[in-house]
Amino acid sequence: MEAAAAGLVLLLCTSLLLNAVVFVHHRSLLPSGLSSASEIGGSCGLSWALQAAKEAEAVAAVDCSGHGRVFLDGVAGEDGRPGCECNRCFSGPDCSVRKPNCTADVASGDPLFLEPYWVRHAASSAVVISGWHRMSYTTTDRLYQSVELENHIRRLHRAVGNAVDGDKHIVFGTGSMQLVNALVHALSPDANAGSPPARVVATAPYYPNYRKQTVMFDGREYTWGGTTAGWAVNNASRNSTSTTGGGGLFIELVTSPNNPDALLHKPVLHGSAVISDRAYYWPHFTHIPEPADEDVMLFTMSKLTGHAGSRFGWALIRDARVAKRAYDYLEQTSYGVSRDTQLRMLGIVKIVLANLNVVDKDIFAFGHDVMRTRWRRLNAAVSRSRRFSLQKIRPQYCTYFKRLKPEPGNVSGDETAYAWVECEEEEDQDCYEALLKENIITRSGVRNEASSRYTRMSLLKSDDDFDVLMERVTELVNAEKYDAPGVSSWSELIYVD
Ligand SMILES: Cc1ncc(COP(=O)(O)O)c(C=O)c1O
Repeated sequence: MEAAAAGLVLLLCTSLLLNAVVFVHHRSLLPSGLSSASEIGGSCGLSWALQAAKEAEAVAAVDCSGHGRVFLDGVAGEDGRPGCECNRCFSGPDCSVRKPNCTADVASGDPLFLEPYWVRHAASSAVVISGWHRMSYTTTDRLYQSVELENHIRRLHRAVGNAVDGDKHIVFGTGSMQLVNALVHALSPDANAGSPPARVVATAPYYPNYRKQTVMFDGREYTWGGTTAGWAVNNASRNSTSTTGGGGLFIELVTSPNNPDALLHKPVLHGSAVISDRAYYWPHFTHIPEPADEDVMLFTMSKLTGHAGSRFGWALIRDARVAKRAYDYLEQTSYGVSRDTQLRMLGIVKIVLANLNVVDKDIFAFGHDVMRTRWRRLNAAVSRSRRFSLQKIRPQYCTYFKRLKPEPGNVSGDETAYAWVECEEEEDQDCYEALLKENIITRSGVRNEASSRYTRMSLLKSDDDFDVLMERVTELVNAEKYDAPGVSSWSELIYVD
């Protein structure tokens, strides 16, 4: 035990010394007045950061059998230290006990598939936050947003080629969910202007939180208008009466690629104000045919790097007045995003940028590999089934990877954040219930205002979650006994755009 502790201290000092060497090497980059590590003194050349670094490394070194993790703020046990938090099908002090016949839970879009990437890049992605970091309500130039973080986000969009940012303002939000409401407010007519409230609409199947949030905040400015299907019939007459649709403005939420079916969507209503949710428009989830250039676009770190817990998203907005109204909303509701989060996100974006196109380090290559492998495994199992089928995604050229995605020959689609499952049998009217009976928790299509014949499986969760899903799906498909192959065999593909 003592030898292990001594080893840990040696490792820690070596790593801190290495950092210190890099730090000294870059000393010329420090603003005058800041001392280099060797001048600060203290153990391993560091002073106040050392204790925090020791605690962080000690916690990271605890072995949870690869099925759990210890967090610095985990609940303290009898020894006063936080213990392993186990993945859902594992238990025991070190998470080594597998729960038999565990139910697969693939309902949520929790992006833990990227956790192994950050464990692998632990040294470069760690951020030290001093006790006095940005205590003020405001940051540089009395803003609520870090200018440096904004600059790096712009660099990232240009390097990846997924959005045109040059003519747009950036507004940060506590996750993109906060920005959805900020933008609905910003695009709605002023409550005192005497205009009818804007109708907020989306095309089914859509991300259900749009409806839940809009209904919750429903007021004088806007109201939930349901799906676009009913309004699209009147497109022609609404067109002739300008963008206000003869009875109020429409604000259309368009998710592209879509959650839940992963397809690239476009607005349906003519003349509506569009909020384009681009949460999944990154090369690990979809091909990037060209940079997106809509008036209002939403992005989130939750899906880009997997840091959903940090709660950070941003909007690119062309019109200065709309951007100002959204920024005012953020000011009134929260005085902007936590400065601690902004600092952490700056470190994360920097490392994503530094590793772009670097072999074995590019986050998109890593994420794409995981998504593709998971999709192929699931698709291979489901393609033997007559009971269930998955959505089909047409191969297209990806400007980031500079090749067709999926690769030629693999016509079934090779990556997507969600599997949109259809139940094919007459008796499986409720696909969610049918899978629940087989110990698989999914998210019913009814929540997306789609038919109950559809349900969503998340492919974003941890490796353990995916492995349990594959066990349950394999059992399910093996229980079907047919002479001929299943309905969704690759030779019978019909693409759905
Ligand atoms: C389409 C879409 N938009 C927004 C969000 C919410 O993102 P955030 O974590 O940034 O609030 C999600 C989360 O699943 C999503 O799927």
